[in-house]
Amino acid sequence: MKFTKISSSHHLCLKKLLPELGKFYDGHENAKFFDQLINKDKKDNNGYFTIKKEIWSALGDMDEFCGFVCLNYKRGNTVKIGPIMVDPKYRGNGIGRFMITSILKKLEKEKIRKVYATTSSENVPACKLFQNAGFRLEVELPEQYRVGNKEYIWGYFFESPTVIFLNKRSLFDPNSSEEGNLQVKDFNPETDVEYLQKIIKIIKEWHDDITPNFLRQIIDATNRGLDFETKGKLILVTKDINNLPTGLVVAAPKRGGSVKIYPMYGNTPSIEGMIGKLRRIFKEKGYRKLYTFVHASDDRYIQQLINFGFCLRGTILSPYKSGHDLAVLDLFI
Ligand SMILES: CC(C)(COP(=O)(O)OP(=O)(O)OC[C@H]1O[C@@H](n2cnc3c(N)ncnc32)[C@H](O)[C@@H]1OP(=O)(O)O)[C@@H](O)C(=O)NCCC(=O)NCCS
Repeated sequence: MKFTKISSSHHLCLKKLLPELGKFYDGHENAKFFDQLINKDKKDNNGYFTIKKEIWSALGDMDEFCGFVCLNYKRGNTVKIGPIMVDPKYRGNGIGRFMITSILKKLEKEKIRKVYATTSSENVPACKLFQNAGFRLEVELPEQYRVGNKEYIWGYFFESPTVIFLNKRSLFDPNSSEEGNLQVKDFNPETDVEYLQKIIKIIKEWHDDITPNFLRQIIDATNRGLDFETKGKLILVTKDINNLPTGLVVAAPKRGGSVKIYPMYGNTPSIEGMIGKLRRIFKEKGYRKLYTFVHASDDRYIQQLINFGFCLRGTILSPYKSGHDLAVLDLFI
């Protein structure tokens, strides 16, 4: 069995396997998903956390195509594996296992810090595949991609972090402002860039690889509408009576009904106002839930979000920087 970068002659074989993923993910559209995978093979220009994608294939002794896996290189020196698929004719023969073992060898050589994957709780073979390869279940997210099932987040470290850091900075501003005098507005690239920069500076404490390009990519994404396929984003800014910003949130709709709202910065009334507006906007568009990340040691912010109705779902270990764990919270809308 060979493990090689996919050749374009196998793109059609890959495409034929994709419809099966629709079983686990609402909103799965095969042709669009294929374009996203294949045309982003070199460089992912739309994802602000994804740096590049690579697709590898497993070939049999006669060079027959047996399966493929997509590697998504992320900021913070991590790689997300997925999708991984084996042609139904060849399943149950260790090919999935062979691909995972090959990936781990390759990524260890590349000095990648963490490898992770997500699977639907209903996808028993995929869950087993990661569990048996040594991945650890970190978080369970209910109805993340589909009603009635959970999404599992699996993590694998070549070397576990030896020190766990407490947060020095917070996305929660303890200062208060008059709730009635706040307005939640759309991000204005003319006036709000500096404020966005300030918030990105805060998250740099627990994110590696935040370059000036990161800021540009977020702002550019606000011009792409609110389509998860084009990775469009919405930025809201809360302003006080003097038109000064008191809070900001970046919202990114995802496949299957969830909206990532991260980073979300502000004091209590600003956050409350932004969540209220996000709920209205995304509920109308048919989305089910909002989810966000908070530094796992930021108890005050976590409690504040719980007070707003969020549920704490667990902790992702060092997702963006070694030793900085993030709590995951979600809110059904
Ligand atoms: C998940 C998938 C890639 C596994 O590929 P595979 O080549 O059949 O898997 P393997 O034969 O290497 O088996 C790997 C592990 O999965 C488990 N497994 C495989 N098929 C299974 C099944 N039908 N039921 C339960 N466990 C199963 C085995 O326990 C095995 O662990 P072990 O080697 O320690 O015993 C394959 O089932 C597939 O393509 N599924 C459809 C696509 C998909 O859902 N991908 C995941 C989404 S990201």
